[in-house]
Amino acid sequence: KSSVTYIDGDAGILRYRGYPIEQLAESSSQLEVSKLLIDGELPSKEELSKWISDVKEHNSVPEEINNIIKAFPVSSHAMGALTSLEAALSTFYPNSKNITDEDENYKSICRLMSQVPILAANFYRHSQGLSFIAPDDSLDYSENFLNMMFEGDNKKMHPDLVSAMDTLLILHADHEQNCSASVMRNVGSSEPDPFSAVSAATAALYGPLHGGANEAVLQMLTEIGSVENIPAFMDKVKKKEVKLMGFGHRVYKAYDPRAKYLKEAADKVFNVTGTNPLLDIALELESIALNEDYFVARNLYPNVDFYSGLIYESMGIPKDMFTVLFTIGRTPGWLAQWKELLADKDQKIARPRQVYTGYDSRDYVNMESR
Ligand code: SDX
Repeated sequence: KSSVTYIDGDAGILRYRGYPIEQLAESSSQLEVSKLLIDGELPSKEELSKWISDVKEHNSVPEEINNIIKAFPVSSHAMGALTSLEAALSTFYPNSKNITDEDENYKSICRLMSQVPILAANFYRHSQGLSFIAPDDSLDYSENFLNMMFEGDNKKMHPDLVSAMDTLLILHADHEQNCSASVMRNVGSSEPDPFSAVSAATAALYGPLHGGANEAVLQMLTEIGSVENIPAFMDKVKKKEVKLMGFGHRVYKAYDPRAKYLKEAADKVFNVTGTNPLLDIALELESIALNEDYFVARNLYPNVDFYSGLIYESMGIPKDMFTVLFTIGRTPGWLAQWKELLADKDQKIARPRQVYTGYDSRDYVNMESR
């Protein structure tokens, strides 16, 4: 049971706490949406400014964590690093295990909202051989993140790119009982600290069938290489030799309502950065998938991961950081569902019942007679 997010897969509807994603993408901000998801109501002006300052107040990542970041080989995948660092954070906040303490939980929520982007940016800087950029309290959430990544680089921090980043984070903020949110609830239901639960959810998101699809889409577009190579590639898809990454969905059997805003964000970004050469291939794949029987019959529409990778790449973000951005966007959704789970006394520890398909009872056989 959850009252956080509503999806109608056939009608392509997505609402956070009843508000349509279309309206939030057009009028809200990442921190306002995260407050809405976590608390259930749109904040007043005062509530929003308190939330923003509370998140900023908890933006100091322990120095030992930064030392752990520096210990990773520069070739490490950013998601492997982030999953480890989120769990490592739990060791610096031992009181976060007191999940019946509302004040502790609020502090943990602020720390995760504030520090996951910092871990991401610091790991990126480490992988590029650059020094870390401290969070800047004078900047809004998305601008601060891009600043910690790109140190005030005007091209990479153009206001249109900042606003596109904020829209991307809103579009990724929650999505009902998807794979990683279910992991957040499963792990949260045994009552560890929320840092460990977020680390588990991040590991689930890492997979190419889930959040890792945005990185896999870029891989796929790069491998296809040109529009001329699409027919041969689509033959392989129909023979099930490869998947059309960024297409299909467990719930949406219509156009993912987020994809429309992702395409708009892409246009905004490409206006600044110049179009991404892989865009032509992406648009051709989409038009085939929306028209050819094989794909129409299987309801294979572009999902949230199809365009996001193109946007991130055009913003100068390395491929292995794409799912890290998905993690930053999805963290408030995971926290909203974790908080809801703890508050619902009817929701007990996760313990799925199995359908047993093994042998009936049988006797042990000695080695000699095997
Ligand atoms: C996300 O759950 C969420 O809400 C997730 C998410 C969120 O916000 O949290 O929306 C984010 O994870 C989006 C999905 C990102 N993943 C990808 O883009 C990877 C590629 N997509 C596929 O792996 C697949 O579509 C899944 C995993 C997303 C869904 O898989 P399903 O539920 O098994 O698909 P299905 O049962 O509906 O498949 C029906 C048919 C099958 O063929 P037939 O057996 O009927 O012949 O469609 C085929 C599938 O083989 N199919 C695909 C395909 N996805 C399904 N064929 C080619 N390419 C694909 N991508």
